[in-house]
Amino acid sequence: MRIFIAALFLATLAGCQQKMADQPAPRPYEPHDQFPNQQSARPIERGVVHRNQPAADDPLVTWLTPQGKEPKVSAEWKAAVDPQGTTQPTAGAPTSVDNFVKEFPFEITEADLSRGQTMYNAACALCHGGAGYGNGKIPERGFLKPPSYHTDPKGEARDAGHFTGEAPKELPVGYSRGFDRYGIKVPLKEVPVGYIYQVITWGYGGMASHDTQLPIVADRWRVIAYVRALQYSQSVPAAELSAASRQLIESGGGRLPPGHVGGSGGVKTSANEGPGPIKRADH
Ligand code: HEC
Repeated sequence: MRIFIAALFLATLAGCQQKMADQPAPRPYEPHDQFPNQQSARPIERGVVHRNQPAADDPLVTWLTPQGKEPKVSAEWKAAVDPQGTTQPTAGAPTSVDNFVKEFPFEITEADLSRGQTMYNAACALCHGGAGYGNGKIPERGFLKPPSYHTDPKGEARDAGHFTGEAPKELPVGYSRGFDRYGIKVPLKEVPVGYIYQVITWGYGGMASHDTQLPIVADRWRVIAYVRALQYSQSVPAAELSAASRQLIESGGGRLPPGHVGGSGGVKTSANEGPGPIKRADH
């Protein structure tokens, strides 16, 4: 009797297992005869936009000027690089600084700058360095060194630049490699904001696209604002500094006063106090 019950129990279990294992749960896009398109997923209706998708001409996602959508190369560049004239640069090629928008699409507040700082530290500093000198952890371990965001005040330091053919071309430190490819020498301090937006969104050379790291498009502009703040911070004329900051620098630098925008310099403020206990939501 006991054996019979055990056998019955096992048989029930097996039956149960079989049903559970064979559920009608198709994977996305696998062949399936449920719908006329013979796929488990139905095609998206025409004109569907995904949630939060900006319109194509929304200034938040517009970084090219009309000229930038059909870029032209200079006669000198053509003569030197493409004498047959077969190359037609595609939209976004940095053939002129006027190809890119020069204004932010919204007013940057202190809160935007602070958010830009957070996102820069999370998405860019690992390569570009906390202050933008191109000395983050990743290039320290052997990855291609990004250009500095700052120029050498004496104009003497050189960047390895980009590689064309066999030899690396030298550029003054802090100059855009992208523009240099089209014969334009412009420091990254002066490239239009739209160009930096493009580099974040598409990547450039050895740098991959960072659109997934910054899926909220406004954050890309906030990061750019923070890059601008970093650039300003490294070349601000002494006369524009507050007396406290000047004193700080004259005394050999070090810690910035609490509440200073752009970093607390290691000083504990209410915003960066830690490590403290973290209050988690109850589950
Ligand atoms: C994985 C490392 C890495 C990360 C992360 C990264 N970059 Fe870069 N970036 C590079 C490298 C490397 C280059 C130089 C590419 C080359 O010369 O081929 C570069 C170049 C640039 C340039 C200059 C392009 C030019 O014309 O010279 C800008 C601007 C830039 N990055 C902005 C950013 C911003 C903003 C972020 C954060 C959203 C970011 N990068 C994140 C590695 C990185």
